[in-house]
Amino acid sequence: MSAIEIAVRVYRKLEPEDLQILEAIEQQMKSYEHAPKEAIHKQAELAPQEVDYRLPSLTKKGLLQGWRGQYVGYSLTTPGYDTLAINALVEADVIEAFGKLLGVGKESDVYDALTPTEQQVAIKFHRLGRASFKQTKRKRGYMAKYTYTPDWNQQSRIAAKKEYKALKLLRPKDVAVPNPIKQNRHVLVMSMIEGAELYHHQKLQDPQAILQEILLNVKRAYQDAHIIHGDLSSYNIILQPNQHILIIDWPQNVTTKHPNAKELLKRDLKNVLTFFQRKHGQKNRLKDALTYVTEDSRN
Ligand SMILES: Nc1ncnc2c1ncn2[C@@H]1O[C@H](COP(=O)(O)OP(=O)(O)O)[C@@H](O)[C@H]1O
Ligand SMILES: [Mg+2]
Repeated sequence: MSAIEIAVRVYRKLEPEDLQILEAIEQQMKSYEHAPKEAIHKQAELAPQEVDYRLPSLTKKGLLQGWRGQYVGYSLTTPGYDTLAINALVEADVIEAFGKLLGVGKESDVYDALTPTEQQVAIKFHRLGRASFKQTKRKRGYMAKYTYTPDWNQQSRIAAKKEYKALKLLRPKDVAVPNPIKQNRHVLVMSMIEGAELYHHQKLQDPQAILQEILLNVKRAYQDAHIIHGDLSSYNIILQPNQHILIIDWPQNVTTKHPNAKELLKRDLKNVLTFFQRKHGQKNRLKDALTYVTEDSRN
């Protein structure tokens, strides 16, 4: 079962007091790696017996991890954090029902969901610091897939925030990206897109036109929104059924003022050009693409 499956299944059965306790632990985890039981009592504003009765059951559900050292403490697990984000999105009337897994990326799990008005949306759970497959294999066992670096949650929050901000900036500049709807903690809700990553398409109807459209969008991002994707490749470009592209996965963006801006832009463009040359026989010079993107040739 994935972290989110656990979170979604458990979420429906949680009572307000359970959520209060999870939130209290989240607060305390700003100061402690394991929130001390006494601190949870205070923070949750519930009777201590009430808290003591619920802590083991939340642990059994997979939302908490107990710890015994110089004191008794608890920390949130990945499903625990997911539960808090899901709760916030439900409370804000952003989502109502969860759907299926849309994609597992390098650093995220993306699900589809329905809004209260039955609109289909995509929910991206950022998973920075997730153990690599190799590390996971070494550990094995049930908990292996929940092995994260200690600050994964902090990193993932930053990534979600950064991506949300980028999408908010890019949309009004007519860069072809998903529509950002809401961000909470490490989770980003955006419009659901159809189609598949460019690398999935064996044959393109008009590869040069698609490449041109990608370059135009990179140019708009650069000149109008003043940002560079930073992780552009055929994995992060979706070709929609209408034969138009969308560029996804923006948490690594940098501004055009970043000291490595030019290098990153070059790398982005090189990834795309190499892909088009190898797979679709389109020869284009990096230098020309770079000039096209950076020089103001409009007006
Ligand atoms: N808005 C969306 N609608 C539908 N599927 C999406 C959406 N965003 C991402 N995906 C799917 O999830 C995968 C991972 O998302 P991505 O943003 O690239 O994250 P990662 O950093 O993990 O690669 C994508 O390759 C795609 O298949
Ligand atoms: Mg990606």
